[in-house]
Amino acid sequence: MIKNSWYAVLSSREIKNNKLLSAKRLGKNLVFFRGKDGELSCFMDKCLHRGAALSGGKIKENCIQCPFHGIEYDKDGKCVFIPSEGKSSEKDFSRFNLEKFPVKEVNDMIYLWYGDEEVIGEPDYFDEVSKEGYVYSELVDHWKVHYSRVIENQMDVSHLPFVHYNTIGRGNKTLVNGPKTIWIDENTLQTSANNEVDRGQTPLKSEESVIKSTNLKFKFPNSWLNTISEKIMVTAYFVPIDQENTLLYIRFYNRITPIKVLNKLISYIAKFANLKIERQDKKVVETQMPKESSLRMGEMLLSADKAIIEYRKRREKLKNNIEN
Ligand code: FES
Ligand SMILES: [Fe+2]
Repeated sequence: MIKNSWYAVLSSREIKNNKLLSAKRLGKNLVFFRGKDGELSCFMDKCLHRGAALSGGKIKENCIQCPFHGIEYDKDGKCVFIPSEGKSSEKDFSRFNLEKFPVKEVNDMIYLWYGDEEVIGEPDYFDEVSKEGYVYSELVDHWKVHYSRVIENQMDVSHLPFVHYNTIGRGNKTLVNGPKTIWIDENTLQTSANNEVDRGQTPLKSEESVIKSTNLKFKFPNSWLNTISEKIMVTAYFVPIDQENTLLYIRFYNRITPIKVLNKLISYIAKFANLKIERQDKKVVETQMPKESSLRMGEMLLSADKAIIEYRKRREKLKNNIEN
């Protein structure tokens, strides 16, 4: 993982009021809950007393009550009551306080700060989909692979006519022009597929290629936007469970008609098309070895893999910056 970053980890809808949510993210077993005021809390899902999962407990007056011996923690993780010590106890229980992990909510996604350092800035997100009129549907799928492989698959332009020969890659456009890649800012990489049927022509170099109106953007550490048109966009979040498992959250956004209900229906139908496409990807990507990508892993990359190369270089830099 890249440390000291805001990772998208959950969809807002997954955290219900007055319910504890257990979720493994970034290699940690976590518990999430939404307090009375809507404020989110996130802790390790482990009671400091004798290690029971707090997510098996309940919410009592805006506090988490451990299911084992009833210790209560408030929304900031402060231990506020230990039943066996009695209501009248005046002992200092601060050693029982839980560490609270920073979480923020943007665009109906929950972001978790992953790092050792003080929180820096805000989650970087695609505000394109916050525009007036957009509605979306969402699908979530589990891939048994490191999240870097799932990201690279979404930046891969040469797999389309093979993996998606009967869906988005119809037409046998096997020859790849470019692709052009642009760093919009130090966190955001843009590219687009510019493929053609191979009639013996020489592919255009990256410098000769263009970013088309239908294009892809990736933001570190784990979000992606496919702008299909001014009225249709797809987002993806590559949520690490651990080093070998990823949850892929895909949202299909549209504002095709002026009627919201109709747009909702369009998004709902599109979800099944997206599911078919992402399952085509998953089938191949889960076979890639090793499960995690890295800059110097010995793969023989090609011109068509330019966006993947850019991603790997930047990822390596971010990982090293932090680790050195
Ligand atoms: S393990 Fe949680 S109260 Fe004892
Ligand atoms: Fe694909």
